[in-house]
Amino acid sequence: MSSTTIIVGAGIVGSALAHFLSSSPSRPKIILIDHSLSPLQGSTAHAPGYIGQFNESSTLTRLAVDSVTEYAKIPNGFEVSGGIEGAATEEGIKKLQTRCDMAVHEGLPASMITPAQAAGLAPDLVRQDDIQAALYFATDGVANATVITTFYQQEAKRKGVEFVEGIVGGIRYGEDGEVTGVEIEDKEAQGMDNEPTKRKIKRVIASDTLVLATGIWTADLCKDLDIPIPIIPVMHPYMYIKHDRLEGDDNSFQSVSSSHPGPLLSSPGSPLSPSSSNTNHRSPLSPRLNNKPSPWIRYPEHQVYARDHGPFYGVGTYDHGPAMSCEPNDHVAIGPWQDEVFNSALEKAKTLLPVLATLDGGMESPLAGGLTAIPETKFNGLFAMTPDNLPLAGAVNGRKGLFLCAAVWVTHAAGIAKFIARLIDHDYHNDGEKNNEERRTWETAVRDLDPGRFRGRDWEELKEQSLRGYSQIYHTGET
Ligand SMILES: Cc1cc2nc3c(=O)[nH]c(=O)nc-3n(C[C@H](O)[C@H](O)[C@H](O)COP(=O)(O)OP(=O)(O)OC[C@H]3O[C@@H](n4cnc5c(N)ncnc54)[C@H](O)[C@@H]3O)c2cc1C
Ligand SMILES: *[C@@H]1O[C@H](CO)[C@@H](O)[C@H](O)[C@H]1NC(C)=O
Ligand SMILES: *[C@@H]1O[C@H](CO)[C@@H](O)[C@H](O)[C@H]1NC(C)=O
Repeated sequence: MSSTTIIVGAGIVGSALAHFLSSSPSRPKIILIDHSLSPLQGSTAHAPGYIGQFNESSTLTRLAVDSVTEYAKIPNGFEVSGGIEGAATEEGIKKLQTRCDMAVHEGLPASMITPAQAAGLAPDLVRQDDIQAALYFATDGVANATVITTFYQQEAKRKGVEFVEGIVGGIRYGEDGEVTGVEIEDKEAQGMDNEPTKRKIKRVIASDTLVLATGIWTADLCKDLDIPIPIIPVMHPYMYIKHDRLEGDDNSFQSVSSSHPGPLLSSPGSPLSPSSSNTNHRSPLSPRLNNKPSPWIRYPEHQVYARDHGPFYGVGTYDHGPAMSCEPNDHVAIGPWQDEVFNSALEKAKTLLPVLATLDGGMESPLAGGLTAIPETKFNGLFAMTPDNLPLAGAVNGRKGLFLCAAVWVTHAAGIAKFIARLIDHDYHNDGEKNNEERRTWETAVRDLDPGRFRGRDWEELKEQSLRGYSQIYHTGET
């Protein structure tokens, strides 16, 4: 059989993988398939791009550091802004201190700073009196997932990767369980008759190596496996708020108008484009320091985080009661807005941020997909949780040629794509230069991320564990 590698999913993970795999001379044919290539509609299109490299899992910390190294090579892909975590309670401060020690141990430049220093670094997002201590990560920053993904796709195209738009409805296996190809659904034929459950297959593309980089949709394609693949889609509210920075200060690091933007920030004259100034509120904005974005801020005790997007601020919150799972049925990683739970949580979040506390909601006008705007743009974005908060990335045992690379954050995407590329190319084991520590690190990563690690576990239990982890996402370090 001819050797063809198929990657399903062209979000940041699949696109990065297409780039890294196509750099290897031993891959003659690579096909990247997505339901919608332009625009992208998965989680990547909605990611606000906070990059905090420290993770309680050292495997993830390493992959984040590696990803940042890669993103920094991409024009406008990543900017070092620094990141701050603030706490006010004794327990919260103790946790910050522990995280600081662990981060330093991992080799990251982390340090405890005073509330005054935190407010000095991020005057728009930190009120000195609200916190008692802060943890500062000097090399963290903000990524633009859309810019990065577009870059990787262009590189992959240049190196001969073929792009196909279509829905993969199933995987074909041979007699020994080995991958032989994928089935592409016929979109047009769907729903033509009155049998919505009957899938029409348009064509089969043969392949001996298949990677599912399918984000929140991954479990669906893994139904035939004899191991649970607990990738659980959850809802998450995020809000953009336009501000009127004082004239002359706004030489932002990103331009708002773009030919390949996120879903909301696209149309000319959109509420976030610089020309429309629908805000009547003047916020007490401090001039941008050295024209750099403010450090992002996390308030773990309030489950709130915020960042500077240039001409607007972004706020997200996990403080919305029970974790919400959802069914991602229409191939778009956006869920219906949940007025009752999300609005109050976001209003509460805004009070923590000096720059936003003075703004009230203003007008709201409905946009496509249940989104609202002017001057705020809120949306319910979907991403994936897993029972142990680690991605599922690696080879699937017993299914020769099948690899998963899912439940991966932007923060870890390039690093994990490189890891999978090496795994597929057997590159790691061919390279005899490694010392013992490198070997141990590699083996630990393979074990930590193994897609088969939930073998034998009960699906409902795994789902519940994932959702519990989601509601405690900022109660880090313990479960
Ligand atoms: C509101 C929000 C905030 C977030 N904040 C951050 C953050 O600050 N930092 C961070 O690191 N991460 C953040 N994330 C998470 C991050 O966005 C995702 O983890 C990441 O984008 C996942 O990338 P991906 O390529 O795996 O998935 P996706 O971008 O979802 O890509 C998967 C692709 O697979 C395609 N696909 C799936 N199934 C099929 C099929 N059967 N046939 C064809 N195509 C298929 C889809 O169309 C999709 O394009 C956030 C996410 C959201 C929604
Ligand atoms: C570690 O990474 C996971 C994503 O896999 C994320 O959910 C979690 O919040 C991260 N932890 C920290 C402390 O950033
Ligand atoms: C990413 O960059 C594009 C183009 O500059 C911009 O339109 C978009 O708003 C940026 N996205 C985020 C999340 O900051």
